[in-house]
Amino acid sequence: MTILCEHPPAFGVELEEKNNIPVDHDGQENELVLDEGFVVPDTNSFGHTFRDYDIESERQKGVEEFYRTNHINQTYGFVKRMREEYGKLNRVEMSIWECCELLNEFIDESDPDLDEPQIEHLLQTAEAIRKDYPDEDWLHLTGLIHDLGKVLLHPAFGELPQWAVVGDTFPVGCAFDESIVHHKYFTENPDCNNSAYNSKYGVYSEGCGLDRVFMSWGHDDYMYLVAKENKTTLPSAGLFIIRYHSFYTLHRAGAYRHLMNEEDVENLKWLKIFNKYDLYSKSKVRIDVEKVKPYYLSLIEKYFPAKLRW
Ligand SMILES: [Fe+2]
Ligand SMILES: [Fe+2]
Repeated sequence: MTILCEHPPAFGVELEEKNNIPVDHDGQENELVLDEGFVVPDTNSFGHTFRDYDIESERQKGVEEFYRTNHINQTYGFVKRMREEYGKLNRVEMSIWECCELLNEFIDESDPDLDEPQIEHLLQTAEAIRKDYPDEDWLHLTGLIHDLGKVLLHPAFGELPQWAVVGDTFPVGCAFDESIVHHKYFTENPDCNNSAYNSKYGVYSEGCGLDRVFMSWGHDDYMYLVAKENKTTLPSAGLFIIRYHSFYTLHRAGAYRHLMNEEDVENLKWLKIFNKYDLYSKSKVRIDVEKVKPYYLSLIEKYFPAKLRW
């Protein structure tokens, strides 16, 4: 068995797969004890070390191909069109919990670290946070809902391709930072040759605030739009986590700080806490969904309307 970690820690990758697109979270060789006492086990639910792939090179090819397509197609214009189209929220009406159940139809088959439905990943993340931060109920709920935007893969949401739903995210409308995973593929992105978009600030200005920045389109930005437009009462840190949890080049490599404002700096602290749980919760024990459901329903009721427009 090998432990392979082809990206330095600066490049977290969250790829969920369908149709043989590989999935990837950063592996860690040793047991880590994180700041807040959350223990990161060195084995997954199968008792193997993380990232144990027999056909590593094939998987790697899949990841590269995924990012090549992603980097070529995620342009400023594309993101704008997707935000306009999906921002209409005219597809489905459902509660947060109903969306959790819908997402459950997507079970990750090619990720050797994951042998359970998405709903368990969501609840594992939420429950792990709840254990260490019992008073931050908004953070528990954020854990539960952070990946719900993956419903974009569902036929009712246009069955978007993987490259437009998952993977690391990054700003568009300004230069692509070199710390972005597989940066080389941006040379084929038309924005790279557009002087309006290829400078350090591009269409933005210093300290403008990340909420003004267009991010590559995917489940993060979509869920942020859903939560915001449905008037969630989650604190801004919760919305920040939802929108930027795959923005690894910011929270790992410290890129794009010149676009952040003071509120972003504060919220980034929570995002860094959150990400530890998102990455490692896959290895936690199975969750008794029915047992924890009443608690999460009460949080949903506290922070969201009964039915949301999606
Ligand atoms: Fe995610
Ligand atoms: Fe996640």
